[in-house]
Amino acid sequence: MTTQVLTLRIDGREVSGLAAETILHVARENDISIPTLCALEGLSTPGSCRLCMVQINGSDKLHAACVTPIQEGMVVTTQSDKILQYRRAIIELLFSERNHVCAVCVANGHCELQDLAREFGVDHVEMAYRFPALTVDASHSRFVLDHNRCVLCTRCVRVCAEIEGAHTWDIKHRGIHSLIVADLDTSWGASETCTGCGKCVHVCPTGALCEKGTSVAELHKKRPFLPYLLANRTVDRR
Ligand code: FES
Repeated sequence: MTTQVLTLRIDGREVSGLAAETILHVARENDISIPTLCALEGLSTPGSCRLCMVQINGSDKLHAACVTPIQEGMVVTTQSDKILQYRRAIIELLFSERNHVCAVCVANGHCELQDLAREFGVDHVEMAYRFPALTVDASHSRFVLDHNRCVLCTRCVRVCAEIEGAHTWDIKHRGIHSLIVADLDTSWGASETCTGCGKCVHVCPTGALCEKGTSVAELHKKRPFLPYLLANRTVDRR
């Protein structure tokens, strides 16, 4: 069976991709940058962070590039005033929702949320901070979970289930009350399913999950991100 090759335009450039490939995939294949937070190569895509929103065929409606398949003749815009405003608002919301204090964060200088804020010129937050009283779970012998820094991208949940096959992590509650939990809400140290592989720590875009005594910078230097993940796949996803 041959896979159909489709031609489309992204930001005025003619590009092509295979049917069923997403706009994000084709854009990246062609060095066209679209910001993301929840999407990560090698994992399923929830389309939840909404940072990758683009406009299609001149419509005002926004679509998540990470879950929208390409179509023949599609015209995609990845940069416009509306998109920029939308992305800035998402970044501000993330900062205002929890307690992201970069100056004292283990991921300072190596944080994807911080990088996005820099890229989109978010140097202050106009929305009211929530300052939620969230806990830090340091019960694991090697790792720490700080809910204050979590952006609920669910990369940890997915890497644990889809690559390590342990299914330790999940999300409890909804909306702003959502929290990641180990083993249906026990402390991480008491988890019976956690293998201690550290993959969840590795894919965390902020300092929410970290290794005791190791900065995020050191961690990424020790084990380059994606090659490490794919080489350490436990679950065979077809
Ligand atoms: Fe598309 Fe998160 S990267 S919604």
